[in-house]
Amino acid sequence: MSGRGGAISRAMSKTAKTIKKPADALTKAEARAELKTLAAEIARHDELYHAKDAPEISDAAYDALVARNRAMETRFPDLVREDSPSRRVGAAPVEVFGKIRHDVAMLSLGNAFEDTEVAEFVDRVRRFLRVPQDDALVVLAEPKIDGLSISLRYENGQLVQAATRGDGTTGENVTANVKTIRAIPHRLKGKDVPELIDVRGEIYLAHADFRRLNAAQAEAGEKIFANPRNAAAGSLRQLDAGITARRPLKFFSYAWGAASRLPSDTQSGVVAAFERWGLPVNALRRRCEGPEELLAFYRSMAEKRASLGYDIDGVVYKVDRLDFQERLGFVSRSPRWAIAHKFPAEQTTTVLRDIEIQVGRTGALTPVAKLEPVTVGGVVVSNATLHNEDEIARKDVRIGDTVVVQRAGDVIPQVVSVVLDKRPKGARRFVFPEVCPACDSHAVRDTDEKTGKADVVRRCTGGLICPAQAKERLKHFVSRNAFDIEGLGGERIELFFDEGLIRQPADIFTLEARNAKLPEPLQGRKGFGAKSIENLFKAINARRTIALDRFIYALGIRHIGETTARDLARAFGTVEAFRTAVAAAVAGGGRESEAYRDIDNIEGIGETVVDALVDFFGEPHNTKAVGDLMEAVDGLRPQITVEPYSRPATVASTVTGKTVVFTGTLEQVTRGEAKAQAERLGAKVAGSVSKKTDFVVAGADAGSKLTKAQELGVTVLTEDDWLKLIAR
Ligand code: IVH
Repeated sequence: MSGRGGAISRAMSKTAKTIKKPADALTKAEARAELKTLAAEIARHDELYHAKDAPEISDAAYDALVARNRAMETRFPDLVREDSPSRRVGAAPVEVFGKIRHDVAMLSLGNAFEDTEVAEFVDRVRRFLRVPQDDALVVLAEPKIDGLSISLRYENGQLVQAATRGDGTTGENVTANVKTIRAIPHRLKGKDVPELIDVRGEIYLAHADFRRLNAAQAEAGEKIFANPRNAAAGSLRQLDAGITARRPLKFFSYAWGAASRLPSDTQSGVVAAFERWGLPVNALRRRCEGPEELLAFYRSMAEKRASLGYDIDGVVYKVDRLDFQERLGFVSRSPRWAIAHKFPAEQTTTVLRDIEIQVGRTGALTPVAKLEPVTVGGVVVSNATLHNEDEIARKDVRIGDTVVVQRAGDVIPQVVSVVLDKRPKGARRFVFPEVCPACDSHAVRDTDEKTGKADVVRRCTGGLICPAQAKERLKHFVSRNAFDIEGLGGERIELFFDEGLIRQPADIFTLEARNAKLPEPLQGRKGFGAKSIENLFKAINARRTIALDRFIYALGIRHIGETTARDLARAFGTVEAFRTAVAAAVAGGGRESEAYRDIDNIEGIGETVVDALVDFFGEPHNTKAVGDLMEAVDGLRPQITVEPYSRPATVASTVTGKTVVFTGTLEQVTRGEAKAQAERLGAKVAGSVSKKTDFVVAGADAGSKLTKAQELGVTVLTEDDWLKLIAR
């Protein structure tokens, strides 16, 4: 094998040949020809360095090539090539990042912390796919990079667009910045590069580069970054791409979104193709069989972690066969075919100074530990959750105690335990309040209907009069997965609420008109630039039309998270249908009413949710708040328009738009898979049989649903009939 020295001298001699004439002595034709070879050569070294981790030339020699390129371009500005390395220094600053909607959503991963959860993952996959224990099930294991995810669109091999993850559906357009990253090729090479592919991966900063960056920041009196991840994010989200260009960001590709064609039928095959195309991939990935091999991989990564030179926060396991991935599909926002196995949370000790009570959107009183600030896992922590009053008692946490604090990933830091040896004499027990600290209403612990036990959560009974609840509801309303109003964060909500400017959601949409008439309009105030207020109103106006699922989620009704909101939106289709059905359930007066049952019958919805809906809409103030958003008030136009729910792209088929009920035991696929498959084909899967049902697919031992179908004259199919029908 030729050593690094040999490779370098070889490359140097090649360079030496090209530096025959100084740049300012070249003719235009010579410069044109050399700029072409130089662009290719620099791109090759970029790939060797970033994607292959096998540089052939020293940094100084590389810099000399770049300098030569620059010198020629300065002399002949009209010769600057589309693929010139100098284009990596960044375009003119942008004012704000544009938005890009991802054709295929960028999802997150479910987590496993324990070994048993990994075995359960493999079992679950086998069961879902009906792959017997003796058949091979290959799973690709790879490090989980702690950076920020990015989607790179290549059209005919050319990098045309780069978008951050954002909320998973819509990200920010960071194309200009990404184009400055040397690790990311502007052009993919190879015969099997598809016409279109969104390559996905992680942008990160290596430890050494992070330390250098922070040292330089400190010297310049600029912001110090808490950890490499924050530094990478801060470096990428620069409005001036020139700054991004000076930060040595790196990249690993490991997934994809939309693609016109794929180069392989396995995950590992596609990643191998990425590598051939010139994209950096992580060399530590490994195809494994069975939980033992996966766990061995996990342990070896845990050992290597400190010496990798970049942050990883666990490993990721992905079912290798893409046809299996397709069949497994997704649950909520994560794929069923992959899971992240996280490293244990980092822990440290610090002193608990005090305990404060926070009041949540549904009135829950949460104790928050106020800590002596301490660094855990690269982040300074001064608040941590204590969960609830029973937890404080169970851990016997007292004010003044030294406590163990832990932080894992994005989760809120937690107080794990008390270091009793260090308990000071005067350590004080905390008395949990029985009144709400925000509105003085009684705070009570409900009794669970089923168990008869007191609920762990104490709730404020102030409801509408409680300002803390109202503020939290507003914060939820504008949050990322709800109305997503940029520029209207927690602090501004607090301020506008205290001033009486925003008391309920509809007020957000009338703020601009009212602001104009204020004695002291917002843009004149300290901390509110004219530009920032203009942007705020722009952001608000951009949300006057909203998708039904986001709208339902934004209302902040108890027990209605994103998934349930989507189930409701899918079932009702339009906001009118939703409101009518809920109003009927409220009027129905109980769980036995038909209107109540209709909602309860929706797949994924149970009594807890219907009760919560009835409670919410049974409250006239809430109905009015929703009405104020959607109906004309005092002759003014409605504040917002709610779009009917649009199903995610489905494949048109013989069952598109049909309602199907599965009952009994299916033999060839699991119930979960049958349901996922039907939904992919555009069918609606219902939990109970009614006149509206198109097909009942009856497996072995089908019971009352089959009888009901026969009574109502609904078409009954065997599992075989069904599979034939959808294969058409
Ligand atoms: S796969 C459909 N592989 O982890 C899921 N993600 O918690 C596609 N991440 O948003 C993601 N390393 O930013 C995948 N080797 C890896 C990863 C990885 C880091 C990040 C990614 C994702 C998050 C999910």
